[in-house]
Amino acid sequence: MKRVVCITGAGHGIGAATANAFAEQGDDVVVTDIDGAAAERVAREITERGGSATGHRLDVASDEEWAALSAALRAGGRAPAVIVNNAFRNVVAPAHELDSAGWHSTLDVSLGSIYRSMHTFHDTLTAARGSMVNVSSVHALLAWPGHPAYAAAKGGIVALTRQLSLDYAPEVRVNAVLPGSVNTRVWDGMDDDGVAAAEMQASLRRFAEPAEIASVIVFLAGEGASYVTGVSVPVDGGQTSSLYS
Ligand SMILES: NC(=O)c1ccc[n+]([C@@H]2O[C@H](COP(=O)([O-])OP(=O)(O)OC[C@H]3O[C@@H](n4cnc5c(N)ncnc54)[C@H](O)[C@@H]3O)[C@@H](O)[C@H]2O)c1
Repeated sequence: MKRVVCITGAGHGIGAATANAFAEQGDDVVVTDIDGAAAERVAREITERGGSATGHRLDVASDEEWAALSAALRAGGRAPAVIVNNAFRNVVAPAHELDSAGWHSTLDVSLGSIYRSMHTFHDTLTAARGSMVNVSSVHALLAWPGHPAYAAAKGGIVALTRQLSLDYAPEVRVNAVLPGSVNTRVWDGMDDDGVAAAEMQASLRRFAEPAEIASVIVFLAGEGASYVTGVSVPVDGGQTSSLYS
């Protein structure tokens, strides 16, 4: 059945792969990103392949932009049945070097966005007996140096996912994925040793491709996961299953 699926941070990386994966199974995809041109490009590529999508600028930290997106979608008869919260911010610095703006913006973009999405679309998700999937990280489970705000946000996503799954049950299912190292632009600045170390941390000895995260998100949002709610699923090639590296 064709659903309206709204994805944040979908102009690049995992979000773009997720937009493509939903479109390939026939869903109508609302591709959003703070980079509006990137969102429009992803949507255009989907429609050129015969799929259904529109691109929108959405800064997930802005109450006003959530309200504007909501108004535009409702006016167009496109009430979201599925939300994928994927956008993030990560200011890397130990706490004593992280300024207040870096702390607050990381939490607001990466965690506050999930509150905003449910605040905005709880009624459409409920009416559709829909689903939310939140993109957390292995940083919710393990610490790496210099990521206090990101770790707090990603750990918070696990707790918030559990909370929302109770508050909006039984109509809405809410789950999370915890990706390990994924081959996106966030790794562009990493040297070869850093990439090799990350590969070795995964039992599968490689990075994931964005499509390998997207396929789990699509599963969690779909009928095959109809009795799954409140869980956070590592999609990490075994990175958090072993200390061996
Ligand atoms: N790549 C990895 O190794 C990895 C590992 C674990 C978790 N993750 C998570 O996966 C998700 C996607 O990351 P990615 O690797 O695809 O990164 P990416 O940089 O390729 O994509 C992130 C997207 O979010 C958008 N964005 C940033 N700030 C925004 C805002 N305020 N409002 C709306 N959009 C905004 C960016 O423009 C970008 O398109 C994130 O939640 C990230 O924490 C990634």
